[in-house]
Amino acid sequence: MKREEVHGNLEGIRDTVIDKLSSLYDYQVDETDFLPRELMAFLSAMSGYLRREIAVYITRDGEIVDVSVGTDRDVELRDYRLRRNAQRLSFVRCVHTHPNGDGTLSDVDISALRSFRYDAMVAVGCLNGEPTVVQAAFLGANDQVILSDLVRWNRLPEQKWLDQIAESDRLVGWEQKELDQGPEKCVLMGIESRESLEELARLAETAGAVVVGSFLQKKDRADGALFLGRGRAEELARECQALEADMCIFDEELTGIQVRNLEDLLRVKVVDRTTLILDIFAQRASTAEGKLQVELAQLEYQSTRLIGEGLVLSRLAGGIGTRGPGESKLEMNRRRIRNRVTDLKRRLEEVERQRDIQRKNRERNEIPVAALVGYTNAGKSTLLNHMTGSDVYVHDQLFATLDSVARRVEEQDAPPFLLVDTVGFIRKLPHTLVSAFHATLEEALRADVLVIVNDGASPDMLRQHDTVEQVLAELGATSQPRVEVINKCDLLEGAHPFPGAVEVSALTGENLDGLKKAIRKALGQTQVTVAFSVPYSAYHMMAPIRAAGRILEETHTDTGTCLKISMTPQDRDRLISQIGTQYIARQDG
Ligand code: GTP
Repeated sequence: MKREEVHGNLEGIRDTVIDKLSSLYDYQVDETDFLPRELMAFLSAMSGYLRREIAVYITRDGEIVDVSVGTDRDVELRDYRLRRNAQRLSFVRCVHTHPNGDGTLSDVDISALRSFRYDAMVAVGCLNGEPTVVQAAFLGANDQVILSDLVRWNRLPEQKWLDQIAESDRLVGWEQKELDQGPEKCVLMGIESRESLEELARLAETAGAVVVGSFLQKKDRADGALFLGRGRAEELARECQALEADMCIFDEELTGIQVRNLEDLLRVKVVDRTTLILDIFAQRASTAEGKLQVELAQLEYQSTRLIGEGLVLSRLAGGIGTRGPGESKLEMNRRRIRNRVTDLKRRLEEVERQRDIQRKNRERNEIPVAALVGYTNAGKSTLLNHMTGSDVYVHDQLFATLDSVARRVEEQDAPPFLLVDTVGFIRKLPHTLVSAFHATLEEALRADVLVIVNDGASPDMLRQHDTVEQVLAELGATSQPRVEVINKCDLLEGAHPFPGAVEVSALTGENLDGLKKAIRKALGQTQVTVAFSVPYSAYHMMAPIRAAGRILEETHTDTGTCLKISMTPQDRDRLISQIGTQYIARQDG
């Protein structure tokens, strides 16, 4: 049992009692029940025994997502309001005991209903450990409260009250708003950097939102609770209102508390940069592995910013910050997140094991690998398509490709190599994402050569290059030979800061041969060509020689066989130690 999951005033309560309360987390309320009698009986018994109020919070799925003990309702009623829309209901009903026997809802209960927008606020009167009478309140239009009569505990109009929740949803007016919503209108709030803010705008558009305003703020006025200074935050609230924004996106990571505080003040949904990036990844993930990785990253990010003491509020599908490739759970507490994370990791390990096998097969095939890495939108996929004649998804969007794709580059008179496209990098790439995608990236980065693709059309090329370097360093990919490429040279104006780089245009095809040559040259650093002359009398030597690398040429003369083989220096040395040097006619490299 996880003792910490019972909240509130636990002073002087024995562990065994807390464990009993904690078992409520395993209790499932049937979706067709409003409040089961056995639950009321249990709460009343515990409440009578402890002489304190007990509150449980039940989702529409019937899960109990929080249990707390105590009478200080201001403290004990945590905010379970979904963040998607400050107006809508929270999808959670609060059921609590009144140990004085009176089930009448208090003014404090009613104001909590209003401010936390519960599906329902329910008081269960209890006396001597037995339930007595119950009252429920629901929200109506314009924040009016619909109050039920006091009813005997064993006569609850279950269906009526469940229907009332649906009705309240309608009255509160979110349904129509949700369904009729066009693209979400968002306001951006950047800190310090104009470039980063512009990039945030592209991210928002990629995620499907429309940017209706953007603001830049100096860092020094930040306030822990609101991220911004209060005055600035209040101004932002007015701006959001004037621009009729549905959402405000911050260009920094926010804590769960900051998001909640800001949403209370701004009255619109608040999303941070990391959530936005994760959301885009969730939209883009197409393979089973990609989906697992994104879900893992999302959960790990959420778990670092639990609201209150152990609850994550995920959102309904349909908007930014809502998409998760996995099942959509309305609320998840720490324990559920932990279980899900363990499960995802286990499944990912299995996929990685499979990939390991594939890689080993490829290594056995001895095809050298060059990986395209670079900032998002630099043109990696376009390059891959043009160089290999394939049709990888290309779009003028950030993170158009998520999963690494490998294609063979094959030409007459030249050894083939594999070209691998990787996920684009970006500044402030969420850490959880880097670790979740580690395996995919690592596979690409184990390549023999890294082809760093720079976006020649971006005024921010140098800084983007720095980001790429940083991520590569983080991934430990620092030792391979590199080919620096300036792509989009059709748009390039003037000189660029990378003197030795290969200038290409993936779009017009300009200098792609030059790039292939440069990659081959770099790969040549890891491959040597060895010519063998093996007399027919030593034909048994042919097998180890052939197996040592890729045969480039094979001719038969009067006296024996001549072979030209491309191999790694390590394989050459291994072969020499096995058969000696007497059959080697020539070595290059
Ligand atoms: P991510 O998937 O986000 O990592 O992007 P990427 O690096 O794979 O970029 P992608 O190939 O999707 O290209 C991004 C945009 O740049 C597309 O609109 C391309 O048409 C455009 N583009 C790519 N190469 C060139 C080029 O050489 N010249 C011009 N003008 N546009 C290019």
